[in-house]
Amino acid sequence: MKIGEIMSDTISLKVTNLEKSFDGRKEKVSVLQGISFEMQAGEAMAITGPSGSGKSTLLHLIGTLDTPTAGEVFIDEKDPFQLSEPELAQFRNQVIGFVFQDHHLLPQFSVLENVLIPTVATDQQQNGQIDRARQLLKRVGLEARLDHRPAELSGGERQRVAIARALINRPSLLLCDEPTGNLDHATTDAVTDLLFELFREENNVLIVVTHNLALADRFERRQELRNGAFIAQ
Ligand SMILES: Nc1ncnc2c1ncn2[C@@H]1O[C@H](COP(=O)(O)OP(=O)(O)OP(=O)(O)O)[C@@H](O)[C@H]1O
Ligand SMILES: [Mg+2]
Repeated sequence: MKIGEIMSDTISLKVTNLEKSFDGRKEKVSVLQGISFEMQAGEAMAITGPSGSGKSTLLHLIGTLDTPTAGEVFIDEKDPFQLSEPELAQFRNQVIGFVFQDHHLLPQFSVLENVLIPTVATDQQQNGQIDRARQLLKRVGLEARLDHRPAELSGGERQRVAIARALINRPSLLLCDEPTGNLDHATTDAVTDLLFELFREENNVLIVVTHNLALADRFERRQELRNGAFIAQ
């Protein structure tokens, strides 16, 4: 079975005519020119495309880290861009998990503390969260590294911490930007297996941006971005 076969009919993510342009020095740079798609809970999709085609820009918009020039994003039937700034921060924190290409771990904090950072703003029981962080770190094979700082980890280990951190609040939307970009073949396979295993358990929506076509091939659903639009497969 490929990853991402549909298991429910709830639309968790709806993207409609999404556009993004940036003000360049001389002229407007149009990066996304009308992207539309829907995803259901339990579905996974890989997005590929040449460097500069707008993959990270698209992921940032869906992850509410940037605002669209036009078009709409609905996550769990809510339009996050209608929320006030503090509401949006809370929504993003609870509903969206983001694995950044260069992991974005905080160097001064331990592995366990890094995984717990998204829980700081929630009012859930701190003890339960610590247990979950430990459990996730065990799942990613880092139970013996809880007190290490990011600088004391290998690249693959840092990426696995970033995955644990993205999952701590049980997001319904998990977005990964080149999660295996800096890893060797064996580590790429291990990190990918783990991502898929956790995804299957959580029944969320998973979008992975990757240059790695072997990784993209493991997804039931794939889209290629060219010149700001998805090209027909
Ligand atoms: N803040 C910005 N201001 C101006 N232009 C931007 C900005 N962010 C991105 N761009 C431009 O948008 C285009 C798409 O960038 P993006 O980072 O989305 O590409 P990508 O597909 O993720 O590429 P890569 O595979 O290299 O990571 C690029 O040409 C980039 O220069
Ligand atoms: Mg990118």
